[in-house]
Amino acid sequence: MAAAPYGRSRFGMRILVTGGMGFIGSNLIRYLLSAHEDVEILNLDRLSHGSNPANLRDVESDGRYEFLRGDICDFETVKAAARDADAIINLAAESHVDRSISNPRASFDTNAMGVLNLLEACRLRDLAFQQVSTDEVYGPAPEGRSFSEGDGLDPSSPYAASKASADLLVRAYHRTYGLRATITRSTNNFGPYQFPEKLIPKAILRALLGLPIPIYGSGRQRRDWIYVLDHCEAIDLVLRRGEPGGIYNVSAGNEVENLELVERILGLLGRPRSLIAHVRDRPGHDFRYSLDSSKLRALGWRPRHGFGEALERTVKWYVENEWWWRPLADERVLHPTPWELPW
Ligand SMILES: NC(=O)c1ccc[n+]([C@@H]2O[C@H](COP(=O)([O-])OP(=O)(O)OC[C@H]3O[C@@H](n4cnc5c(N)ncnc54)[C@H](O)[C@@H]3O)[C@@H](O)[C@H]2O)c1
Repeated sequence: MAAAPYGRSRFGMRILVTGGMGFIGSNLIRYLLSAHEDVEILNLDRLSHGSNPANLRDVESDGRYEFLRGDICDFETVKAAARDADAIINLAAESHVDRSISNPRASFDTNAMGVLNLLEACRLRDLAFQQVSTDEVYGPAPEGRSFSEGDGLDPSSPYAASKASADLLVRAYHRTYGLRATITRSTNNFGPYQFPEKLIPKAILRALLGLPIPIYGSGRQRRDWIYVLDHCEAIDLVLRRGEPGGIYNVSAGNEVENLELVERILGLLGRPRSLIAHVRDRPGHDFRYSLDSSKLRALGWRPRHGFGEALERTVKWYVENEWWWRPLADERVLHPTPWELPW
């Protein structure tokens, strides 16, 4: 690895990762610790809905890793956590679109105002900043079209609007204060340690438990899926090599209809298609997302996991790690969200 240009740590780089007890954050921390000997990580996480301390049980004893329970909405906490950092990677978010519809204020507080706190901490101490954003900020992609970084933001849900607001703040901090900030906008992630309220783990666990699997509307909506480790590599690369102020789309080009995805999962588990239950569609549900990631690929990134193999590996992980999901198999797996009412 090239020498880190930061150097405040006795290691190469001390990174404050926010939201590291969640799905992508925990995979990212495990990835960074294994990819770079010279990294130190402080994980700041509020341990809210969606987080799970079991996600990082295997790295707790690593001397390069520390955990701090705290809220990015509290500026004093953020300043203290950032005190010895060289860079912040932000993954803390109210990440579930359905919950942003029920409680938009909570989404905006963390996803936008919390980011303002992180940016202020970076400005005070001239830290590098990496915002982990989403394809949802562009809104629905018309048929045959993939969004590029220069395309306008047109979010549909309160979640997407709060993430788009954060992206605009990050841009403004770069332009106004010269902050060394980058943004990655990724498509839908899947892999181990994903909270079972999200489509893929929910479908796997409900299939294993013999419960109906709710599919919004026709299930013809299309998402572009990326294996979480490919996303983690992209975040790491952009933090180290991305152009300050740069935005990078992260996409592996695996566009699949929701219905087909659930059918494939049922096939892998040998469970019947009759478990699929169509429910009323989510309000403001975007039909299709699609990103052009050629700018990131020009930096040297490629997805290293094929979709079929990664889906199979993911299903196997949930089958073999019941210790992880069994304590979570409560209302998030067993109970529908408010508008998951039968058609
Ligand atoms: N999952 C995806 O498919 C996907 C795709 C693109 C972008 N993203 C983005 O990646 C990031 C991580 O997503 P995820 O799927 O891992 O979400 P997640 O819900 O699994 O994890 C989010 C984490 O943030 C923590 N958190 C929430 N509010 C906080 C606060 N105020 N202060 C401190 N910690 C707080 C939670 O406790 C949780 O551990 C999010 O910013 C999300 O918008 C996710």
